[in-house]
Amino acid sequence: MKLCCISLLFLILFVHNLVVSAVSQPQKRKTKKPLPPEAFLSVTHYAKTCPDAEAIIQRRIRAWINKDPTLAPAIIRLHFHDCAVRGCDASVLLDHRGSERRALASKTLRGFRVIDDIKSVLEKRCPKTVSCADILTAAARDATIFAGGPFWEVPFGRKDGRISLAKEADAVPQGHENVTALVDFFSSRGLNMLDLVVLSGAHTIGRSSCLAFEHRLGKTPDPSLDIKYLNALRRKCGSPSNLVDLDVTTPKVFDTMYYTNLLHKKGLLSTDQLLFSDGRTSSFVSALASQPQLFESQFAVSMVKLGNMQVRTRPVDNGEIRVNCNFVNA
Ligand code: HEM
Ligand SMILES: *[C@@H]1O[C@H](CO)[C@@H](O)[C@H](O)[C@H]1NC(C)=O
Repeated sequence: MKLCCISLLFLILFVHNLVVSAVSQPQKRKTKKPLPPEAFLSVTHYAKTCPDAEAIIQRRIRAWINKDPTLAPAIIRLHFHDCAVRGCDASVLLDHRGSERRALASKTLRGFRVIDDIKSVLEKRCPKTVSCADILTAAARDATIFAGGPFWEVPFGRKDGRISLAKEADAVPQGHENVTALVDFFSSRGLNMLDLVVLSGAHTIGRSSCLAFEHRLGKTPDPSLDIKYLNALRRKCGSPSNLVDLDVTTPKVFDTMYYTNLLHKKGLLSTDQLLFSDGRTSSFVSALASQPQLFESQFAVSMVKLGNMQVRTRPVDNGEIRVNCNFVNA
């Protein structure tokens, strides 16, 4: 009798569990987190609608960089400044009063004509199909390759944004921040300290205007600056708009000398040098200085992360395929 009751109890519990799990199953599906916007990006996004898009971008980038090699770093930086504000949505390209592009912090951005040129070719080939944000992302990858850096697959499907505000562009790090500010800026965009150190490695090519590091050269110069290097910089910076190589050792080669320079107090920007003096990031600097393959592979990984940051891919994201990269569609 007792045994029977216990069996019955188990049976009831068993059936009850079945019913509960059957009922709660659709509930679970309903409350499941929606996919993040970057999940809708795909390397085959244009395979049917504009199969030559990637090849066209690469061909035009090659032509421009052959003519003017300084455009490679310029385009990589333009992509960073785009993604750093409202995600990679080509908001940096919009050219109207009060837009990011007109901000003080954007004064030394270059490469807009290159993107316009690619866009006009693509509008002829596949009208209203390839977004300006995707063009800029692929262009930055190709610029990296032509500068001697690593290859990575670019997933496509970004929409272009319709909002661009100068004051948001002025929040992008300018070179005088402390490491805490850099870490916070990156982490609020889903990028960690390794991403920060690895992506700063883009400063292995390109130049900076003296304005960005003049504060290190004054009466009491920055003690983390090599004395010979300091004197050379003082000679070069007669005017704040003069340009100086970010990597003093191999300015045109995409290599790990940027990190080696930091070990020798030869970082140009104080934000570069601080990555080695700060305990949170210094071990990454040492590791990258001594392992070129680590830099190559991790640069590719971090650039994909940068390019996928806060992208617009879904109807609710309110994006569009701009017809002209300089203006939102009418
Ligand atoms: C960590 C925060 C960063 C700071 C504080 C910073 C700051 C700067 C500054 C001040 C310049 C010189 C601008 C001028 O001419 O006045 C510059 C140039 C450059 N930056 Fe950065 N940057 C940062 C991150 C990045 C990232 C993440 C990338 C790309 C992945 C990047 C790529 C470049 C390139 C390639 C140049 C050279 C541009 C040229 O030669 O035209 N930077 N950066
Ligand atoms: C870092 O800079 C921020 C402002 O950008 C400031 O509030 C903070 O006190 C600074 N931290 C240190 C440790 O200097």
